[in-house]
Amino acid sequence: MKTSTWIVASLTVLLGPPTARGQEPPPPAPAEAASPAAPEVAQPAASPPVPLDTAMVKRGTGVYKRYCVSCHGPHGDGRGYSAQWLDPRPRDFTSAIFKCRSTPSGSLPTNDDLLRTLRVGFYHTYMPPWEVIGDRSIRDVAEYIKTFAPKWKEEGPQAPVVIPPEPADDQASRARGKTVWGNNQCEKCHGATGKGDGASVPTLIDDWGNHIVPYDFTKSDSRKCGNTPADLYRTFMTGVNGTPMPSFADSMTPAEAWDLVHFLQTLRQKD
Ligand code: HEC
Ligand code: HEC
Repeated sequence: MKTSTWIVASLTVLLGPPTARGQEPPPPAPAEAASPAAPEVAQPAASPPVPLDTAMVKRGTGVYKRYCVSCHGPHGDGRGYSAQWLDPRPRDFTSAIFKCRSTPSGSLPTNDDLLRTLRVGFYHTYMPPWEVIGDRSIRDVAEYIKTFAPKWKEEGPQAPVVIPPEPADDQASRARGKTVWGNNQCEKCHGATGKGDGASVPTLIDDWGNHIVPYDFTKSDSRKCGNTPADLYRTFMTGVNGTPMPSFADSMTPAEAWDLVHFLQTLRQKD
């Protein structure tokens, strides 16, 4: 999608309720989130914190007030004045939980992870790509949003997950990937055909208490955390923090994860 389309979409939100998009209130949250396949993820030792660059933080304050405050709020808690109309809700930075990371489940993202999110935005949500504000502003505001959560002062991001080279994508690999999909119960959330309509869907809520839907593999190749085969591999191994989408780093070998990447290519339905 073109940047301009996103900016227009965001402005629509900033200027009034998004009647065009027909937002519906999320269904009532159930008492507990079901995470049928969530394995226990061992937490590696935290890395030392990286001191914030005060000059960047200072410049980033202005960038934030201009471009981000309407959604993410003056206190970074995701309660900007447009937030009430958005689903999913703008992120609450005070929790320091980030969906797209190269780092293991539960870790802070690297600075490069944050920069990537800011440059490309999140497809299928109101989080726009920010390439238009320029690289320096993106870097400054990335530094500034770290001031909202004490966690950034206490620890640094863990080492990124290692992605081994991709083996051949052939019929045999795709067939093995189908078994990996079955063994890890992906269909409980993503559905038998990958449509995002698994049996657990009505019970899925995110860490902020909102109903959340799994990704639909049949429709689009526009994922939040990237669209290359390596991005997919990384997503299984890091999980999507703050959501019921777990990390499979402890239950899948690298070879199995690559087979699964290849199987997922078969779920896309051609328009
Ligand atoms: C029009 C509303 C809107 C504006 C303006 C906006 N965001 Fe967001 N942002 C969102 C929404 C909605 C999400 C949550 C999407 C999700 O959880 O799937 C989000 C999520 C994020 C995330 C979380 C990424 C992750 O990996 O979890 C970051 C970081 C972020 N925004 C930074 C910014 C910054 C910096 C700005 C200003 C330059 C900005 N946003 C402006 C709506 C907005
Ligand atoms: C407990 C439910 C659950 C299970 C089990 C689950 N997922 Fe997910 N998955 C989700 C949810 C919810 C999202 C949406 C997260 C979001 O949009 O913030 C998601 C998103 C994804 C995404 C897209 C991330 C992005 O970048 O937008 C991929 C890829 C994915 N899942 C793959 C898998 C695979 C492969 C399996 C099995 C190995 C699996 N999931 C098992 C709930 C689940």
